[in-house]
Amino acid sequence: MPDQAAPARSAAGDPALTDALQRIVGPAHVITDPAMLEGYVADRTGRWRGTTAAVVRPADTAEVSAVLACCHDAGAAVVPQGGNTGLVGGSVPLHGEVVVSTSRLTAIDNVDPVGRTLSAGAGVTVAAAEEKARRHGLTLGIDLASRDSATLGGIVSTNAGGLRMIRYGDTRSRLLGVEAVLADGRVLTRWKALTKDNVGYDLPGLLAGAEGTLGVVTRVLMKLSEPAGETAVALAGIPDVGEGLALVRALEHAGLIIEAAELMTRDGMRLVGDHLRLRAPLDVDAPYAVLVEVSGPAVQQDALLSVLAGRADAVLDAAVEHGPARRLWQYREAHTESVGVASSTPPVKLDVSTPLSRIEAFLGELGPGLSEHFPGVRPVCFGHFADGNIHVNLMDVEPAQQEAITDHVLRLVARHGGSISAEHGVGRAKLPWIALGREPVDLAVMDAVRGALDPARMLNPGLFHWAAAAHRGGDGAVLGRMLPG
Ligand code: MLT
Ligand code: ZN
Repeated sequence: MPDQAAPARSAAGDPALTDALQRIVGPAHVITDPAMLEGYVADRTGRWRGTTAAVVRPADTAEVSAVLACCHDAGAAVVPQGGNTGLVGGSVPLHGEVVVSTSRLTAIDNVDPVGRTLSAGAGVTVAAAEEKARRHGLTLGIDLASRDSATLGGIVSTNAGGLRMIRYGDTRSRLLGVEAVLADGRVLTRWKALTKDNVGYDLPGLLAGAEGTLGVVTRVLMKLSEPAGETAVALAGIPDVGEGLALVRALEHAGLIIEAAELMTRDGMRLVGDHLRLRAPLDVDAPYAVLVEVSGPAVQQDALLSVLAGRADAVLDAAVEHGPARRLWQYREAHTESVGVASSTPPVKLDVSTPLSRIEAFLGELGPGLSEHFPGVRPVCFGHFADGNIHVNLMDVEPAQQEAITDHVLRLVARHGGSISAEHGVGRAKLPWIALGREPVDLAVMDAVRGALDPARMLNPGLFHWAAAAHRGGDGAVLGRMLPG
């Protein structure tokens, strides 16, 4: 996709800067070897690729602070990077920025089982944090298919939702405290293990979802929760999305707690089955499948079966297993990988949401519209549908079509009152369309906040670069281009 933002000024290749960075973190932790840089300059979709002259791996907050102050003084822009599992090009150095990796900030400092909190470095993976929480009988509450690589700093910076958001909320709602380094090296600490703390602006909430434009998150204080006891999982074939929503509602009505509710399509299930060589889990070839995981005081599997039996007219077939039901979950969790492997071009991944009442109409228009305007493209839609969140993955999109097809889908989302980014963030992928999601004054306020913290836009300068964008989103209008600000 053509990159509309202007390259940031960058002194990343300056040998004096490299020497100074080496003095701060040690020569072994400033990577300049092109072969070793490879894993830091592209995202895992293969769609977003940039360059950098240096990846710096500080050991602690003090070193991050010194690194940022040094880059700031040298006029070198910085891109913070965690597990690099993002899908919108937000953690990739697209214009030669210095990459500040959190990969060494891996200390889990404390789990407080009474206050139910976990404090840890930004580079701790979601899987490692969950394992630690489980040892104390608690859960982090955020879970993603990329749990083994995605980091706490990354999920905060993108305000990740994931597979359990319906039960535990998004990352922002679980973030009690944060330590972050600002563009000039100052350390911002808001660290109170309190459920109620009403003194001033919600700065941790502001850093959550800021995609590394306001500060480099170095430590986080996360809320922990009681995990579900016994769970049961059903994979049900259904004729339409309305039946999926009705099923979720019936399960809640029966007193069950929804731990997860995921939508898949016939095409997506086939793709995963082919990729992993799995048997079809259901006897019917239903247009949609939902995976629901439930918990509750009753015997869940019985309660789940009786709700499914009560909806036998609409549920075409179902498979039920006790949790964790890895076999059923793999049909859902392997979607991202299967799409990546099956697409002849890097997939265009559009993570969107609509009001629940509009999902069906949105999907009903999406398929025919894509077939009409982009006949060679194969769409696969899946996602956390009970949150209104659909991942529109588009395979076999020629590079020349990427912009037009993104425009087509995001305008449709806007027409249905949805959001152009539900959980993956804006990154580079959605930047030209941000005016479809926010009003001009809203954009101006966000830009003013950024300007107050980072006047020279040294942190992730290619993102949230809307200052000069014309606001012409909306039905039928030509979208204003993002211009260099
Ligand atoms: C997921 O929920 O699996 C990812 O957020 C979606 C994707 O790969 O598009
Ligand atoms: Zn998702």
